[in-house]
Amino acid sequence: MTDIRELLLSRIRDVADYPEPGVMFKDITPLLADPAAFTALTDALAEIAENTGATKVVGLEARGFILGAPVAVRAGLGFIPVRKAGKLPGATLRQAYDLEYGSAEIEVHAEDLAAGDRVLIVDDVLATGGTAEAAIQLIRRGGAEVSSLAVLMELGFLGGRARLEPTLDGAPLEALLQV
Ligand code: PRP
Repeated sequence: MTDIRELLLSRIRDVADYPEPGVMFKDITPLLADPAAFTALTDALAEIAENTGATKVVGLEARGFILGAPVAVRAGLGFIPVRKAGKLPGATLRQAYDLEYGSAEIEVHAEDLAAGDRVLIVDDVLATGGTAEAAIQLIRRGGAEVSSLAVLMELGFLGGRARLEPTLDGAPLEALLQV
């Protein structure tokens, strides 16, 4: 596992002052462009899906789509997109969450979730935890259970894990890298 972490970390690019001054952006595009690293990441996340008895994979727009879709295929599970509001054509469940300035909303197709589903949530980064918290609420409102939240990177200094622990209610939060 240590080797995988080193490989993944070596393929994440720090971009200073993006998207605004003072922010160090974690760019995963070098990792996506490296088949060995992308495969290792997909395998590690698919193992979490299997170990936690997931029956579906939810990806959070946008980078959670790129990471989550191959995990679903690898684990033999269906993939469900949680999108920013206004992008899904069918009947949806919608959940608001707070941003640093203002608020946002995410949605899922209501028909994609049902009682008995155990959902692995996949995203690239856990920062404040606001997006993941809203996703957990959406999944539960759909009648499903959260098997685990899995992210490539956790930005520990932003306190997302502490925020999410009560919401996760015992479901594991797996971060492959601590940044
Ligand atoms: C980023 C990231 C996570 C979220 C983490 O997505 O990909 O989804 O923020 O932040 P939080 O823990 O503070 O909620 P973003 O909202 O920038 O959307 P994008 O992937 O569509 O650019």
